[in-house]
Amino acid sequence: MQPETPRPENFEELRFRDSEPKIATTAELKRTKLGRYCEIGQRVVLREVELGDFSYFERGGEAIHSSIGRFCSIAANVRINALAHPMERLTTHKVSYRPNEYFRWLPVDQSVVEARKADAVTIGHDVWIGHGAIVMPGVAIGNGAVVGAGAVVTHDIPPFTIAAGVPAKPIRERFPPEIAARITALAWWDWPLETLFDAIPDMQVLPIEAFLDKWERQSPAPSTSAK
Ligand SMILES: CC(C)(COP(=O)(O)OP(=O)(O)OC[C@H]1O[C@@H](n2cnc3c(N)ncnc32)[C@H](O)[C@@H]1OP(=O)(O)O)[C@@H](O)C(=O)NCCC(=O)NCCS
Repeated sequence: MQPETPRPENFEELRFRDSEPKIATTAELKRTKLGRYCEIGQRVVLREVELGDFSYFERGGEAIHSSIGRFCSIAANVRINALAHPMERLTTHKVSYRPNEYFRWLPVDQSVVEARKADAVTIGHDVWIGHGAIVMPGVAIGNGAVVGAGAVVTHDIPPFTIAAGVPAKPIRERFPPEIAARITALAWWDWPLETLFDAIPDMQVLPIEAFLDKWERQSPAPSTSAK
């Protein structure tokens, strides 16, 4: 246990840092909603993304049409939702579906836009995505899952499963099923900041069973303020 630093008189109000999302100047965000404490690294591109509280993208990441939960760690150069080009047409080139970029009076093909929106990616809470991984359209990744560096995720990943490789396959579970079920029920990612503040020292030192034994007894009603 780390030695406790002396607490100032106005400790209660000082313990939370500014929750405004931090966005690097070279990042590009369009129609994107960020939760509290989100961090968006250099050259990250997000389009039509919902990112939950505390989740962050390291440099060079990219996501489109994606819903991402809280406390997700997304490493550098991760691509979430590598969009499809139409392959059944004469050409896969965007000249067929974005002709407006080259010609007047030929608008964007809305059928392609709608098909892409319908194939959104869903990522739960506390998901860690390793360096350079690629998540394909329509994939759902469960709470607590891990995606290995360089993986190409073509199928859904169940909660608390570690998956890696090309195509990504489960390599092991993070926890035995009963522990995973207890973490799911605890839903700590919904906790208010006060509870999180109090629980962090226990996260650092208690084995997972002991942590659950203690915090199942004192966990609060889910926060309504978080995304
Ligand atoms: C996926 C990961 C979490 C697995 O960690 P782990 O459970 O400790 O796994 P191990 O190292 O014991 O490896 C287990 C097996 O999976 C394989 N494996 C591990 N990571 C892999 C990866 N990214 N891609 C393909 N196979 C991988 C190992 O070769 C090993 O296979 P083997 O049993 O045939 O030898 C880890 O390897 C990883 O990729 N971490 C991401 C790191 C990263 O990107 N960090 C960026 C900063 S956020």
